[in-house]
Amino acid sequence: MHQNLLTLEEITHNDLREVFKLSQEYKENRGRVFPKPLEGKSIGMIFSKSSTRTRVSFDVGIYELGGHGLYMEESKMQVGRGETIADTACVLSRYLHGIVIRTFKHSDVVELAKHSRIPVINALTDEFHPCQTISDLFTIHELSDSLEGVKITYLGDGASNMANSLILAAKFAGMELIISSPHDYQPRKDLMDKELGHGSATWEPDPVKAVENAAYLYTDVWVSMGFEDESAERVKKLKPYQLNMQLLRNAAPDAKVMHCLPAHREEEITSEVVDSPQSIVLDQAENRLHVQKAILTMMIGQN
Ligand code: CP
Ligand code: NVA
Repeated sequence: MHQNLLTLEEITHNDLREVFKLSQEYKENRGRVFPKPLEGKSIGMIFSKSSTRTRVSFDVGIYELGGHGLYMEESKMQVGRGETIADTACVLSRYLHGIVIRTFKHSDVVELAKHSRIPVINALTDEFHPCQTISDLFTIHELSDSLEGVKITYLGDGASNMANSLILAAKFAGMELIISSPHDYQPRKDLMDKELGHGSATWEPDPVKAVENAAYLYTDVWVSMGFEDESAERVKKLKPYQLNMQLLRNAAPDAKVMHCLPAHREEEITSEVVDSPQSIVLDQAENRLHVQKAILTMMIGQN
């Protein structure tokens, strides 16, 4: 695997097959078999945004693989008081065997990776959330077996970190992605134009048309972390894209409902939908653990 995981562009098809295989093994054998590929290895977890799933699944995953995870709040590090990212990267490379980082600017993670001699894993930036997306591909693969030609519709903020990551994932994995959002929250042109595989990503502003025949419906919060100042405007403009029972009935009859969580119930998704038998949101959350264990093993445990 590539030294870093910053978007989805570092991943090859072989990597993805191996991640799926290992994730499945870890999932089936959890609590019965205890491989320790991270024994003697320390992984820094730098967080400057809130997290429940990512923080806990990485912490537990590192522990289960025999490694040591150090949780570090960016505001309590010297980088929060003016030390450069480059100096931070060089110093941390002398102590640690890998860095997991969640922050605002994607360019900060790129800068950290540029100066690090150890693997850097993006645990979410304003622009991309690759760990979530690879886990989501695994969740879809568990249900649909092949990702090839799977139709998935994403509703909501078409330029969010999740939308951006799903565009790359769909193209790479050969899926058919429809992004349904209002004009003001359209998907990024540079990502829509990117050639990354034979999958497709298209924009459809009409949510009813967008969900037609979709096997998977995906949504995410309308106000991502860091965009709180725009809350009122976003909630108003994104209202027609709420994933509710009425919209769900327009998708394929057994369509599955996905959400990276946290959900803002009765905003982007209704409780009726998120708690319905068609919802697989808790499987998505669980798979974060198995998939990240596979990623950590391949990026850090095999060196
Ligand atoms: N889905 C996800 O990344 O959740 P957290 O923000 O709780 O980590
Ligand atoms: N788009 C959301 C994802 C949270 C996991 C955010 O960035 O807040």
